[in-house]
Amino acid sequence: MARGECDKGPRIQASLRAVGQESRTPPYAGVEGPVVGVMRTIAIASGKGGVGKTNIAVNLALSLSQRGKRVLLLDADLGLANVDIVLGLTCRKTLHDVVAGKERLADVVVNINERFQVLPASSGVLEMERLAPEQRMSLAQELRSLAAPYDVLLIDTAAGMTENVMFFTRMADDVLLVATPEPTAITDTYAMIKVLRTRHDVQSIALLVNQVVTAAQGAEVHQTLNRVLQQFFGIQLTYAGYLFRDGALQHAVRERRPVVTSRPQALVSSSFRTLAAHFDQLFRSPPRTLDADFWSALSRENLTPIDRAPLSQPPPS
Ligand SMILES: Nc1ncnc2c1ncn2[C@@H]1O[C@H](COP(=O)(O)OP(=O)(O)OP(=O)(O)O)[C@@H](O)[C@H]1O
Ligand SMILES: [Mg+2]
Repeated sequence: MARGECDKGPRIQASLRAVGQESRTPPYAGVEGPVVGVMRTIAIASGKGGVGKTNIAVNLALSLSQRGKRVLLLDADLGLANVDIVLGLTCRKTLHDVVAGKERLADVVVNINERFQVLPASSGVLEMERLAPEQRMSLAQELRSLAAPYDVLLIDTAAGMTENVMFFTRMADDVLLVATPEPTAITDTYAMIKVLRTRHDVQSIALLVNQVVTAAQGAEVHQTLNRVLQQFFGIQLTYAGYLFRDGALQHAVRERRPVVTSRPQALVSSSFRTLAAHFDQLFRSPPRTLDADFWSALSRENLTPIDRAPLSQPPPS
C-alpha cells in the first residue's frame, strides 16, 4: 500500500506494473529542503469543461514517467476529484485532510509507480471549491517544497474560471490549455486565454487539441485561435499538438484504468507518447523563481471569478 493509503483495484495494479514496479515508499515525497528551481510546474486547464483535462493529466504523467521523468500530479479539482477515478484508486486520505489540518501534504501522496506520485483530492466537499486565500497560499507553499525534487509538477485544474483555477494556473510556469474542435470549446478557449493574459498576466500558454479525428483538424483549431489572438492581442499561441478521439480511452475510463497502460497500442496512447516525447521542447523557458515577492504578489492578487469574459471581438469561427 502506498503512503497515502489508497486502494488500487486489481486491474489497475496489473496495468501499472507495466510502467514500473511499485515501491513501498515514494522516493521523492516529503523531502525537506529549499526549492532548487529545477522542477517545472504545468497547469492543465480549459475554458470549457469535460474536454479531457483529467485523462490528459494522468496519461501524460504516466508517459513522462515511462521516459524517466519524476512526476507529481496534483488533483486541483479540489471539490470534484477525478484523478483517483481515472487511476482506479480509492483513497482514505485526501487534500481535504490537509486543508482541515489533519494531515501533512506528504502524508497523502500516493505512489503509482516508482517515478509517478499523486496528490488525490476529495469529491463532493463544497468548501474545497472555495478555499480562503490563506488556505490556498499555505497549500501552494507546502506543495512547492514537496514537489521540489521532482522534474515535473502537473496540476489538473477544475472546469471554468473559478478562483482556485486562476490561482493554480497563475502559480504554474506554463499552462497546457486543452480545447476540442467543437465551436463552443474554441470560443471558451479564446475567452480563457484572454482572461489569463489580460487579467492574470499568464505568459506561457500552449494549446493542446483533444478529440481530433484528423491531424489537420488540430492544426486548424490552432490556426483559427492564433489568427484571432494575434490580430487583437498580439499573442502567438504555442501549439502543443493534438490527441485523437479514440473509443479506447472511453473504455479505459469505464474500467478505471489509464489508457496508456491498459491499451498501449491504441491510437490515443501513441498520441500521449508523442506529447511526452516533445515535452522538453515544448516547455523550454526557464522555470520561474518563486521568491518571496512572487508569493506576496499572488496573495494580494484579485482572483475573483468573473462572468464569462465579454469577447471584445466575435468569437473565432
Ligand atoms: N481523446 C479522447 N477520445 C475519446 N474520448 C475522450 C477523449 N478525451 C476525453 N474523452 C471523453 O471525455 C470524458 C471527459 O474527460 P475528462 O474527465 O478527462 O475531462 P475534464 O476536462 O477533466 O472534465 P472536467 O472539466 O469535468 O474536469 C472522458 O470520460 C471521455 O469519455
Ligand atoms: Mg477533470
